[in-house]
Amino acid sequence: MKAVVITSPGGPEVLQVQEVENPRVGDDEVLIKIGATALNRADTLQRKGSSPPPEGASPYPGLECAGTVESVGKNVTRWTVGDEVCALLSGGGYAEKVTVPAGQVLPVPQGISLIEAASFPEVACTVWSTVFMMSRLSAGETFLIHGGSSGIGTFAIQIAKHQGVRVFVTAGSQEKLTFCK
Ligand SMILES: NC(=O)c1ccc[n+]([C@@H]2O[C@H](COP(=O)([O-])OP(=O)(O)OC[C@H]3O[C@@H](n4cnc5c(N)ncnc54)[C@H](OP(=O)(O)O)[C@@H]3O)[C@@H](O)[C@H]2O)c1
Repeated sequence: MKAVVITSPGGPEVLQVQEVENPRVGDDEVLIKIGATALNRADTLQRKGSSPPPEGASPYPGLECAGTVESVGKNVTRWTVGDEVCALLSGGGYAEKVTVPAGQVLPVPQGISLIEAASFPEVACTVWSTVFMMSRLSAGETFLIHGGSSGIGTFAIQIAKHQGVRVFVTAGSQEKLTFCK
């Protein structure tokens, strides 16, 4: 398959599309044929050499993706070949295919294109795990979001309102406040 390879630490010019080995699906994993991926700040830090991927993870950048399930490991029952999914990755999104533990795979939300879905898992998992799982924000409570117009902020506003939470934000300009509203 083709993948975007970080040939040495540096600027965008060190990225090269190269022919690399196909990933092999493990028993608890899903192999996704990637339709779209996203750019996170951590990808640029990895490219610069200051944020290496965790041990055992793909060496290629790309922390989230959307695509179609191409094969599943023998222990995987939740997903079947042909499902349209998005996934939170430890790396490897900048490639034609990636393997990922089945628990990190999500359905493409209804009404969302495959391209939009590629930018969903990182922000959704970050906000959901910190605000709702750890902090247990609940309907009827009040929530103050600093930097409301940020990537994290805009997602947090929408999901908190959906959950029946009263939302306040701070932001660095009137234009950003209007955007949040
Ligand atoms: N996006 C993700 O999926 C993701 C996942 C995991 C972790 N994170 C982490 O979450 C944080 C936010 O990420 P992001 O993607 O939402 O970033 P972002 O879209 O670049 O937004 C950063 C925001 O920070 C605000 N800001 C900057 N300096 C500030 C200050 N001194 N006081 C208050 N606000 C300040 C800015 O808002 P104003 O201009 O209005 O001040 C800006 O909107 C980062 O630390 C990032 O590493 C993000």
